[in-house]
Amino acid sequence: ALDDLMRSPIGERLRERMFRELSTKEIHDLLQREQRPYKELMAYYQCALMEVETKFRVLNEQFSLAHDRNPIESIKTRVKSLESITEKLNRRNLPFSTQSIEENLTDIAGIRIICSFREDIYFLADCLLEQDDITLIQRKDYIENPKENGYRSLHLIVEVPIFLEHKKKMMKVEVQLRTIAMDFWASLEHKLKYKKDIVSAQLTADLKKCADESAALDLKMDAIRKEIEVLKAPEAK
Ligand code: GTP
Ligand code: MG
Repeated sequence: ALDDLMRSPIGERLRERMFRELSTKEIHDLLQREQRPYKELMAYYQCALMEVETKFRVLNEQFSLAHDRNPIESIKTRVKSLESITEKLNRRNLPFSTQSIEENLTDIAGIRIICSFREDIYFLADCLLEQDDITLIQRKDYIENPKENGYRSLHLIVEVPIFLEHKKKMMKVEVQLRTIAMDFWASLEHKLKYKKDIVSAQLTADLKKCADESAALDLKMDAIRKEIEVLKAPEAK
């Protein structure tokens, strides 16, 4: 609301007066105060990401002790920039406030888990969802049901508590689980789609074909892993 006011003709006059009558320090403090609740909220999302990342790291450790291999190849986390948040709220005609962000956006905190094999995805997701401080808000299985363009990943929106000085706060986190092959495809598709305006049917079909081929590769690799595990089993005894 303050932003709108500042952009209006009254805002123009206000700004002139503000610069005439307030010191640089006073303007700085004013802006700092405006921004504080947002910075605080973003810090809470960062904390929630740390919680979820630790949970996955623990699962990775435990799994590698039991099975002699890591199910997780890599982990990436990000908090959505204020610029992207503003853009998304504007696009959806939603108000800009910390309450609106918390209520309406579920992808402020994002964590991407890149797995070795397709089966690791479901194993890790199940283990996470079994934990008693994790609440599942939404589950989208784009592996069982790939998007039309070929995109594959398992998406979870979960709620996780973070423990602050005197209170517990529930935070939403978007978890994306994919194999290396799914990530390889999604990263390249993202670059092609967002950097250039390609909307040719041929390119869309070509990309889709690449997605299907890499999904087939994932299935083959999973089968090979299983065969190796069967061969390894007797010698373990
Ligand atoms: P957003 O409003 O974009 O967050 O979409 P949504 O609310 O419908 O959620 P969805 O779970 O479908 O997708 C969320 C996120 O998944 C995106 O921000 C991307 O990171 C990823 N994603 C979804 N679809 C695609 C896709 O077709 N290609 C790529 N590269 N990434 C995708
Ligand atoms: Mg998103």
